[in-house]
Amino acid sequence: MTEIFEAIKRSAIRIRYAIENDDTGYSQNQNSTGDIQLKLDIKSDMIIEEEFSLVKSVKELASEEKEHVEELCKDGKYLIGYDPLDGSSLADVNLSVGSIFGIYENDYSGKNLKASVYVVYGPRVELVIGYENRVELHRLNSNNEFKFIQLLNLNQKGKLNSPGGTQKHWEKHHKEMIDDIFADGYRLRYSGGMVPDLHQILLKGGGLFSYPATTDVPKGKLRMTFEVFPFAQIYELAGGSAIDGKGRLLDLIPEHIHDTTPCFFGSNEEIQRVKTAYGK
Ligand code: AHG
Ligand code: MN
Ligand code: MN
Repeated sequence: MTEIFEAIKRSAIRIRYAIENDDTGYSQNQNSTGDIQLKLDIKSDMIIEEEFSLVKSVKELASEEKEHVEELCKDGKYLIGYDPLDGSSLADVNLSVGSIFGIYENDYSGKNLKASVYVVYGPRVELVIGYENRVELHRLNSNNEFKFIQLLNLNQKGKLNSPGGTQKHWEKHHKEMIDDIFADGYRLRYSGGMVPDLHQILLKGGGLFSYPATTDVPKGKLRMTFEVFPFAQIYELAGGSAIDGKGRLLDLIPEHIHDTTPCFFGSNEEIQRVKTAYGK
């Protein structure tokens, strides 16, 4: 596992450099979700693939930016599901973006997720690892080395609310729940990048991030393999919860690597509110 974490750190340093120096415009290509890829999406994907191809324990890669999985080392133990540059459309307005990695064994189901990592490219570059029983925060220093900063834990209840999805298409029970949360004094924090939005909630001790099923996107927008499972694991290891409205996100099994799901991540009191609002 250590060599995988090291490959992620090398990728992160190269991706940060690309974000700072490359063109933030669109390419001519579309990914399997139908999004037009930015040149930075393609470059970040290529960097990650290059770095993992040097690691013998990596059997296979599944990227948000590629239709099919890619075999690397036949005898490798791990499968890596990753989003090379989440929130990439925010790069041109200079908001924070991120990379997300899930390290799986056997298949890309939540229960086979062994470790999760994300990187936030913000004013500083930070890397969060969820592995074994803890969540670690690391930060890139001026020598281009990631240094351990602290362990991360969520409080039972927070103050922030990050409600995703187009409001016009929210279901009635969802809108009522979000209104109630704001009525209780929660503050809106939503940048449109799940990495900085979930990072903020995690570092400030708690709150709720939601990306629900909506009438226009009935299965939600966020992808299980690359985005949802890694954050679900990190939130659970930090003492919080992650559900799809009915049950635990990590109990889900995608049929296809690009499958999406409604998702809610937060500290325990807020997730209890979601369960009540969704009737479970
Ligand atoms: P990506 O850039 O990889 O396509 O994903 C962006 C995701 C996620 O970061 C964010 O929470 C969500 O899309 C924002 O969606 P809306 O624009 O619908 O709020
Ligand atoms: Mn994404
Ligand atoms: Mn992406």
